[in-house]
Amino acid sequence: MVVALDGPAGAGKSSVARRVAEQAGFAWLNSGSFYRAVTWAVLSKGRNPADREAVVLTARAVRLSLDGGGGVAVDGQPVEHLLRSDAIDEWVARHSAIGEVRSAVNRRLRDIAAARDVVVDGRDIATVVFPDADVKVYLDADVATRARRRHAQGTSRMSLEEIERSIVERDRFDRLKAEAPLAVAPGALILDTSHLTIEEVCDRVLDAIHVKKLTLGDKRQV
Ligand code: DC
Repeated sequence: MVVALDGPAGAGKSSVARRVAEQAGFAWLNSGSFYRAVTWAVLSKGRNPADREAVVLTARAVRLSLDGGGGVAVDGQPVEHLLRSDAIDEWVARHSAIGEVRSAVNRRLRDIAAARDVVVDGRDIATVVFPDADVKVYLDADVATRARRRHAQGTSRMSLEEIERSIVERDRFDRLKAEAPLAVAPGALILDTSHLTIEEVCDRVLDAIHVKKLTLGDKRQV
C-alpha cells in the first residue's frame, strides 16, 4: 500500500508521515530528504552547486537508500542529520526543479515502494510519483504557523521573520516551477493543520488508511 502525503514546507508532513508510518507499521520515505541528500552530495564533493550538469551527474551517480532509522543514506553513509543546514536550504529548491534530478529520485522512491508498504511525503507524490496511491492526503497550514514550526526545530540560524519570508519565497517557487509543481491531486483528502494537533492529523490519516484497507478487503472477498 502507498500512502501519499503532499503539501508545502512546514505543513507538518514529515512529523505526520513519521508517526503514521510507525503506527501503521509502514516504512517512511521522506522525498524532501532524498532531494536534500542530492544537494548535500553536490556540496560535500566540492562540486559547483550552480552547475546544472554537475548536479545532474551527481544525482545519477549517488546511491540513495534508507538508513534503517527513518533517514536517508548516500552511498551507504547516513546523512539525515546533515540535511537541514542553511546551505542546503539555499540550493535544494533549485536542484529539485531539475527534471533529471527528479527522475533519479523518483526511480529510487518507486523501487523502494515496490518492496513494502510505505508512507511517502513530498510535493508531487500523489500528482506525479504515485498517481495510483491508495491514500492521498494534502496537508496545508497558514504561513505564520509553518514559520513558527520551522523556527522551533532550531536547525536554522535565521530569525522567525526571515524564515517566514523564505517560506513565502519557497512556496512561490514550488507552486510555479515547470517540473512537478506543488498541487492538490484529484481525490486527495485536504487537511488544514493550522489548528489541529499532530495527533488529530495522524488520526485522520490513519482513519483513511483503515477505510482503504476495508475497501481492499471487501474487494478481495467478492
Ligand atoms: O520538504 P523539504 O523542505 O525537506 O524539501 C526540500 C526541497 O525539495 C524543497 O525545495 C521542495 C523539494 N521537494 C520537491 O520538489 N519534491 C518533493 N517530492 C519533495 C521535496
